[in-house]
Amino acid sequence: MDQQQTPLYDRLVLHAGKKPVSLHVPGHKYGLLFSGEERSFFRDIARIDATELSGLDDLHEPEGVIKEAETLLAGAYGAEKSFFLVNGSTVGNLAMILGAVNEGDTVFVQRNCHKSVLNGLQLAKARPVFLGPEIDKTWGVAGGVSLQTVEEAFARYPYCRAMIFTYPNYYGMVYELHEIIEFAHDREIPVLIDEAHGAHFSAGGMFPRSALELGADAVVQSAHKTLPAMTMGSYLHVNERYRFYERLKHYLTLLQSSSPSYPIMASLDLARFYLAQIDRDFINMIIESFLEFETKLMKIEEIRLINNDSNLFLRDPLKLIVQSALGISGFQLQQALETHAIYPELADELNVLFVLPLAPIKNSETIVQTLARIFAKAINGTRRQIDENIVFDVSKPYSTLACSYQEMMNMSQVSVPFHRAVGEVSAEAVIPYPP
Ligand SMILES: Cc1ncc(COP(=O)(O)O)c(C=O)c1O
Repeated sequence: MDQQQTPLYDRLVLHAGKKPVSLHVPGHKYGLLFSGEERSFFRDIARIDATELSGLDDLHEPEGVIKEAETLLAGAYGAEKSFFLVNGSTVGNLAMILGAVNEGDTVFVQRNCHKSVLNGLQLAKARPVFLGPEIDKTWGVAGGVSLQTVEEAFARYPYCRAMIFTYPNYYGMVYELHEIIEFAHDREIPVLIDEAHGAHFSAGGMFPRSALELGADAVVQSAHKTLPAMTMGSYLHVNERYRFYERLKHYLTLLQSSSPSYPIMASLDLARFYLAQIDRDFINMIIESFLEFETKLMKIEEIRLINNDSNLFLRDPLKLIVQSALGISGFQLQQALETHAIYPELADELNVLFVLPLAPIKNSETIVQTLARIFAKAINGTRRQIDENIVFDVSKPYSTLACSYQEMMNMSQVSVPFHRAVGEVSAEAVIPYPP
């Protein structure tokens, strides 16, 4: 398979080159109707914002360039079949779960998952068994699930029909997924993975092993998070053991727009091409630049960085977790950074999270100097003491819903003060950020 090709992107460029007369949607008419300042922002991208015209194929029944692009995608990731998604990993998780899970099925799910996973389970009318993650105390972050937890839950719920895990977590932490997948497969249970933050893992080298490589049956990835793809551009891959292909396709058609964005799809084609270009030399350049960046940061007294060796979980090198050595909260650091127009991915009580580019870092010296100044000045603040027993209830390795999703829909709701909510059934999801 020639991974140098970008069939969908090329066809769009060819189409734009014809200077087409648009007597079709979208209404901006290849950008002609943008007239003010916005024209400079939208002009170029609007030239490839086409629709399902002859030669441009159809995402929902691909037979031409989209099919070619998706075949290249599957080849690049070593999947049996791969899909472009235009509504993020959100739609990928929904379709992956609805495809594999039947009403009333018992499904193991990692507790610290994205809301789309919970929404998928609710739509599928599943019976979730929530598996508690291991907690990394240094960073105050919930990581992955242990094999022991899976085994304990399985001893109690041996009729489990599917397992859903998040790998890596938002902070790029990975865990021993391989042995969990083996455990599940030995019992003929499919394993579905939300790998939203790991679309780049298959580059190899210093990156953790990808869930597909570890044998997962279906994997969802946000190409837009770590690869050069447009926001909402994601991938969904399935292996032959994922026996629900036709149902999955059906749900993708149901859940995705009938007018999928061509710029997003073209960027997915280009992101796969970008990943396929990455060779050992390029990875070495990335590693060197990351090491240089981290070494410089570690010299700054006020900054504390995660260290792979002393940590419970291995970390994706693209994610850099930074703390203040002076006890300032992550939220306060985020504020200080943003006043200098430096925008981290997220903050929590302890940390700020930087997502580095899948490329050597340019002008790292300037960034380090700016960070040094900001961290040195940000000394007026304190972290709140986190009561770990409340935030991370590790007393139960697994738990279930107090009543089924269907029962919940028919119950009436009351508002109570937060402290009185303990022991009640939550009427709506309270989703902390990061999700
Ligand atoms: C673990 C995880 N899964 C799924 C999603 C949803 O991804 P998307 O934004 O591509 O819809 C997110 C978004 O942050 C996420 O963090």
